[in-house]
Parts: sequence; C-alpha cells; structure tokens
Amino acid sequence: MKITRIGHACVLLEGSKTIIIDPFVQDNPSATLTTAEIPKLDIVLVTHDHFDHLGDAVKLAKRDKAKLIAQYEITARGDVMAAGIETVGFNIGGSVEEGNTVISLTPAVHSSDNGSPTGYVVKMDGTTVYHAGDTALFSDMKLIADQFGPLDVALLPIGGHFTMGVDSAAKAVELLSPKTVIPIHYNTWPVIKADPEKLASQVKSSNVVVLEPGEAFDTEE
Ligand code: NI
Ligand code: MN
Repeated sequence: MKITRIGHACVLLEGSKTIIIDPFVQDNPSATLTTAEIPKLDIVLVTHDHFDHLGDAVKLAKRDKAKLIAQYEITARGDVMAAGIETVGFNIGGSVEEGNTVISLTPAVHSSDNGSPTGYVVKMDGTTVYHAGDTALFSDMKLIADQFGPLDVALLPIGGHFTMGVDSAAKAVELLSPKTVIPIHYNTWPVIKADPEKLASQVKSSNVVVLEPGEAFDTEE
C-alpha cells in the first residue's frame, strides 16, 4: 500500500482501492497538491466534521462517485444529504467491507460538530493502517492494537493544542506498537507547531517515517 501525506491529517491510501482520509486540501495551507491533482477515489473517510477534516470530502466524493463512509451523524448532515453522494453511515465498533478492504471505526478523545470524533482502521491488501483522527492520548489505544493489530502503520497527530503533542504521541506508540508511525496534524498553523524528529528520537520500538506534504511511503518497502 502506498500512503501519501497530502498535508495536515489528510492522507491518501492507494492499493486495490484508492481511499482518502480527512480530505482537507483546497484550503489547507500545508497542502502541495490541489484537489484536481488528487487521483480518482473509490472511498472517502472523515474522522469528524471539523472543517480541517471534512474539508473537500463532499466535493471529491461527488467528483469521483466515491462512497463517503463515516459515522452516521456525518452522513446525515444536511449538506452531505443534499449533495446526492453515495454514503455508508456506521458507528464506532462497526466495520464496513468493500471488496477485500475492511474499514472499522474507532473512538477518539476530541470533539466534533455532529456525532462524536472517531479514528479508522483500514485493512487493505493484507496491510493494516490506523488513522487516529484528532485525539488525546487514551489507554484504549492498547485495545485497538489488540483487536486489529498487528498494525503496520499508525498515523498519529503530534501538533498538540487540539490533539496529542509529541510526548503523548510517544506514549501512544507504546500502546499501539505499530511497525511504522507517520506523524500528522502539525505545522499547518503556528498553534500546532511540532518537531516530528523529536518523536523519532523518543520512539525506539517503531519506525518513525516523517513525510512532508506530497511525500509518500510504500508499506512494501
Ligand atoms: Ni478536530
Ligand atoms: Mn483537526
């Protein structure tokens, strides 16, 4: 699976399906790609409906006739319903199968405009990726790893202020034991300034891969 960090919490997963998570692209000051440069999507995932996560979800789903798979309260939003896109609303504890890809919704400790904040576990082509969404550190991350792991990749926020900072993310890595950690949700704005290399220096047991916006990591490598 190829994982491209578009910027902020937005990542593109490319395998047998093309999946975007938290597609905040057009108004994302850290994104180097435009929405027009995002490849054709099969699935759009949104961890919670803060603007920096819902972003261009509806526009991209509409453009590609992609499925928006998210917590029920997001798929039931007036603007999402009015867009006439295909949606699958589910909730924490549930999973959705799309071919051989399994998408599960996990809890997150944060807030949201509608519903509650979530994370996702995506199992595609034998690779398991956890996107934590916006969250504080919580001990049930251990349970997520026990239930869905071993995790190949954990995408964890490190910017602080609205989410975990670097020190909390290092504790999260201990609970999750992923093979690879990719830091997200930092340096988009001054208030979430963080040094991903500081996480790399604190984490010994997992591989920390720092991706600049537009850079990709291949789990096969
Ligand atoms: Ni948020
Ligand atoms: Mn956010």
